[in-house]
This record gives sequence, structure tokens and C-alpha cells, in this order.
Amino acid sequence: MTCRICNNSTYMVLDLGSTPPANSFLSSIEDKIENFPLVLEYCSSCSNLQLRDCLDSDKLYKNYYYVTPKSQTLDSHYSFFTNFLLAKNYLNSESSVVEVGSNIGDFLQHIKPYVRSIIGIDPAENIAAKANSLGIETICDFFSTAAADNIKKKYGSADTIIARHCFAHNASPHDLLQGVKLLMAPDGHVIIENAYAVNTIEGNEIDQIYHEHMFYYSIQSMSKALELNGLVLVDLFISQVHGGSISFVATHAENNPTVLDSVADYLSYEKTVLTKSKLLDFASSASKIKIELNALVKNILNEGKTIYSYGATAKGNTLLNFIGLNNESITYCVDSTEIKQGKFLPGSKIKIINEEEGLNNPPDYFLLTAWNYRDEIISKTRESGNYSSAFIVPFPELKIMR
Ligand code: TMP
Repeated sequence: MTCRICNNSTYMVLDLGSTPPANSFLSSIEDKIENFPLVLEYCSSCSNLQLRDCLDSDKLYKNYYYVTPKSQTLDSHYSFFTNFLLAKNYLNSESSVVEVGSNIGDFLQHIKPYVRSIIGIDPAENIAAKANSLGIETICDFFSTAAADNIKKKYGSADTIIARHCFAHNASPHDLLQGVKLLMAPDGHVIIENAYAVNTIEGNEIDQIYHEHMFYYSIQSMSKALELNGLVLVDLFISQVHGGSISFVATHAENNPTVLDSVADYLSYEKTVLTKSKLLDFASSASKIKIELNALVKNILNEGKTIYSYGATAKGNTLLNFIGLNNESITYCVDSTEIKQGKFLPGSKIKIINEEEGLNNPPDYFLLTAWNYRDEIISKTRESGNYSSAFIVPFPELKIMR
């Protein structure tokens, strides 16, 4: 196929079969849902990892269930990240900020005291309405050149454009970056945070692959996308959030900005990870986790013990559907998101219950499908007085934590 960043040809890295879109929770166990192929491919020209088949945004965002969870892990990330942005002067008291894919506005709420103005833009109606009701002005739309133009006409240029974990959700980074180019002030910055391909590959995170994640960005692929749209990468921020993330900082290329040494440093390491042989290892890790997790679940059930999954995550749905686990082996899925509770996971048809129910009637094992909040969830469980349930942590290597 063809690389959607640089137009060169790609080759297949991993085929996870056909699955339902990962955030399409079912209202009833009888609901029928269509499956779509989930195939990861690589472009050796610009080091882009992408999904071969992209779904229409309509199929993905019509009924959107991802609401940023209340989490200490996220709160401390926001503080850490904001300190970086302030220290580097990518944000200051004069900044007008637009956040793309702002969800219910948690991050904007966090930076509000430090900047001049904030606006969010998010395509999901239920989510944008919630953000507005919480006092964060949020436009309900997909970010595009047209949307950027409208924002610019109404509010003026943005000094800082922030896009956290949403760039990979668009089939064309060029459309997004054209919008950025148009909206960003002449001396402004765009900060794009995304799961980092290096962490995905090194951590065997095959569950990062789902239909919303159309790209698995690297420094090389993002630099290419930026360059093709008159922008240039100048700085990076690496963090552990969401299984390992990178924030790309870019500005207008015509400013001829200084590129900080951190870019070259991380780039040289990245080149040792995004290689044909490591991509092959990543693909083999998928078969390994499939065999090992199925065997573990079978043993646990043979002992007459129970398993719930913890976290109705998009990642978890890739994992369960790829492994072939369903409501015959996993009794319930526990999740703190109110609008997910009472629904069923797409594919595996496991019923979602709230955390209180899960803790009042705990299983012998929790399969930690929200493994990116591992320490927080385990501490929370122990603090509630549950010392009996063990946790099955699937990544980076399958292990049981007691
Ligand atoms: P995410 O990894 O895409 O942010 O999704 C995390 C999911 O896990 C989300 O549906 C909320 C859920 N969750 C809990 O149920 N309890 C928790 O303590 C945390 C942090 C998340």
C-alpha cells in the first residue's frame, strides 16, 4: 500500500484480523456490530507506521464513549507537561491557546490559570457539550482547514495549538497540519502529543493498534509530515503517559528556528528501534501473548477461579478480540466511566460494571486492560481493602502482580 505521509510504498508488519471499532460499546448483548480489518504497515522511507485501512470518522465518532478519566496519573502528567511548556515559553500569560481534540477540557482547565485565553475543539457532541457545561468553551467540530479558518476569523491566531492524543485519529495528517499552519500565529508553536512508536514497539504494545489509531508516530514520520506542510520540529518532550508518549513541538519553517539537541539525541535512538528486525520481533510478540494469555486464563478457570477485566479501554478491546477472550471466560469488565457502565464490550460482549460493584464482589484475578494506569489502579484496589484479587498485567511482558 501507500504511505499516507510521504506516498512511498509500505509493507505489512502485523495483521490482527478483523475487529469492531474499539470504542463502539454495545447497548444490548444482542446488538450486531460490523468487523473491520486491523492491519499495521510500515514505510521504510519516512519510518511511518500506519493502519492499512482507515474507517470514516462517522463510524468512529458517532457514538463516542471516551471521556478523560479522573486519574492521579493524568493529573501528574498535566503538571509535569505544563511545567515543561511554561519553562520553555511555549506557554505564557500572553498565550492564546487552542486545544484540538480537547475532550471534556481537563487539560485546558489545568493550564487556564497560566495563559490569556483557551478554546477547545472536539468532534463528539456529547463530549463537547459536557466540556461547555464545565465552563470550557468548546467548539463541536473536527479540526480541519475550514475549522481553523473559522476559529481564526472569530478569535484571531493561536499562539499555542495543542493536540494531545488525537493526531493519530485522523487519516490525513496533512489536513490537520494545513489547519495548524493557517491558525498558528507567526511566532507560535504547535505541540502534538501522541503515543510514541518507539514505546509501542519496545513495549510489545500490540493493543495500541485499533481503528482510531491510524498512525503510530515517530520523530522521523512526524518530521516529514511537518516539513511537507511548511512546519519544522524544534523540540520534544518524552513521558510515560498512555504507555509511553512523545510531544512534538513545531513552529513555522520560514522562521528558520533553532532545532534543539534533544531532537537529534532521541532520533539516533529511534533509528535503532524502528528497524525491520525489531518490527518482526514486535509482530512475533503478538502470537506470544495470544498463546500465553490464553493458557493462563484456561488454567485459572480450570481451578474454578474468576476473572474480570479492569478498564473498558479501546486497547483492551483489541487485546480481548485478538486473543479470542469473551464473556465465557471474563465475567465482567470494571470501568469508572459512567456512560460505559451497563454496556457491553464490542466483540467479547463482556458486561461493564462500575468500580464499586467490582470491588464489592471481587474476582480472583483482574486482567488489567487499563495497564497504563497499573500502579494507580492496584493502589486504589488495595486501599479499598481488597488484598485478595491478583492482577494479570499483559504488557510489556505478561505477568501476575499480587
Ligand atoms: P485510557 O487508557 O484510554 O485512558 O482508558 C482508561 C479507561 O480505564 C477508561 O475507560 C477509564 C478506566 N479507568 C478506570 O476504570 N479506573 C481508573 O482508576 C482509571 C485511571 C481508569
